[in-house]
Amino acid sequence: MKRNFPEEFLWGGATSACQFEGGYNQQGKGLTVADVITNGSKETTRKITWKNQKTGEESTSEVGAFWGEIVVPKDSIPTVLDDYFYPSHIASNFYDHMEEDMRLLGELGLKAYRMSISWARIFPNGDDETPNEEGINFYTNVFKLCKKYNIKPVVTTAHYDIPLNLVIKYGGWKNRKLIDFYVKYCETIFDYFKNYVEYWITFNEINSVIVENFKAAGMYSNTEQDFAQAAHNQFVASARAVMLAKKINSENKVGCMVAYTLGYAKTCHPEDQLEALLRSRDYNFFLEVQCNGAYPAYKTKEYERKGIHLDSTNQDFIDIKNGSVDYIAFSYYTSGVITKKNEEDELDLMGPSNPYLKTNDWGWGVDPVGLRYSLITLSERYKKPLFIVENGYGHADEKDNNGKIKDDYRIFYMDEHITEIYKAIYLDGVDVLGYTPWGCIDCISLGTGEMKKRYGLIFVDVDNLGNGTFKRFKKDSYDWYQNIIKNNG
Ligand code: BG6
Repeated sequence: MKRNFPEEFLWGGATSACQFEGGYNQQGKGLTVADVITNGSKETTRKITWKNQKTGEESTSEVGAFWGEIVVPKDSIPTVLDDYFYPSHIASNFYDHMEEDMRLLGELGLKAYRMSISWARIFPNGDDETPNEEGINFYTNVFKLCKKYNIKPVVTTAHYDIPLNLVIKYGGWKNRKLIDFYVKYCETIFDYFKNYVEYWITFNEINSVIVENFKAAGMYSNTEQDFAQAAHNQFVASARAVMLAKKINSENKVGCMVAYTLGYAKTCHPEDQLEALLRSRDYNFFLEVQCNGAYPAYKTKEYERKGIHLDSTNQDFIDIKNGSVDYIAFSYYTSGVITKKNEEDELDLMGPSNPYLKTNDWGWGVDPVGLRYSLITLSERYKKPLFIVENGYGHADEKDNNGKIKDDYRIFYMDEHITEIYKAIYLDGVDVLGYTPWGCIDCISLGTGEMKKRYGLIFVDVDNLGNGTFKRFKKDSYDWYQNIIKNNG
């Protein structure tokens, strides 16, 4: 299919600070939750490392993804220990490769680069009085390079890297104090970077705040009450940030961001259909609050039923109303299959597999048509511009004997997804701002904490334990995507 995208379409690429930057303790940066999580793999869960404050005893516990409980060892706080490897510490070492990486992205022809600012590089403890100048300079340099190569930065303010001090001292996002700290942080970056950045995203995958207690909410607890409060606090924080962004620069465009996992009902059994509809609230609830400016009735009812009480003020709801977002950003990798809750479902969090889809080595189904389906649904439901800010194919890429990385599987994946985006724009009339595939330069996996699960168009020569030259190599997909951008589709 011949594709000809709108002139202003933002062809891009995406990374996040804790998975890409490295330099975790350089130039005054404070520790974040990501800095105390070890590497892992598909088979081995990532761990938080702890130190007992009284006895000095060291220990680990599993990072409780998906409502998982985090076992907090007695009198201990999360601490960086000598005998463990923490992928965020060096990551892809963008810290020392900034010039080269931005040049490669410039040559690629990117129109947009989605990245995140690490809160702890700006406010090392999260609650500091004044910002860290070196952190400001670090991002100023990134933005200057974006300008040099004519790339628009699309900046996420929080991407799974809450300053660790906010966890230890305040208990993370369930504490309302974080609203003010976050708003101050946003005001600082909106103000410092107002001449460089127009596209902002508040919280990455905000809907994961109720499943990823440590990474997204900075909490050890996993009670429904705490999850609800953390989500509420982030809604208020995000809304206030949206209003501030507009005040500082009326050109600013601020989006919310969700992990979008389309769930097909497994059968036409009405119970399966209903279950799929109910589960779509896992992301729709967040979009409804952030786009429509109010809690949907089903959530209020649910909270009443479960005895969940939000610590809130009237002003919170006024701000949520007035601080709705300009656009919806979302990640889309795969889709799921949903059946009425049963034993099988409990066992497999990804749900039953879809016999019509191929999967990658990590079991993620490849569903480009689902992307068009999602674009149509989101656009009809919310009537806001949409931005696909993450999409991609994780694979254990390897260099061949000639030093080439022949990632035709990735080209195929991206090509099919781009075709579906094109159809959504031209056949369905969906307003799509752009497409920033994930990990345009290889970075560490968030889920498994390994480098092996690569998404990039640019290969970074480093292994799961941070050994390697960190040299950059263009993969076949780099040339292919360069051509796509040049020909606008
Ligand atoms: C998204 C996150 O959920 O998925 C990214 O926003 C993450 O940070 C991406 O890297 C892919 O997941 P993974 O586990 O393969 O890195």
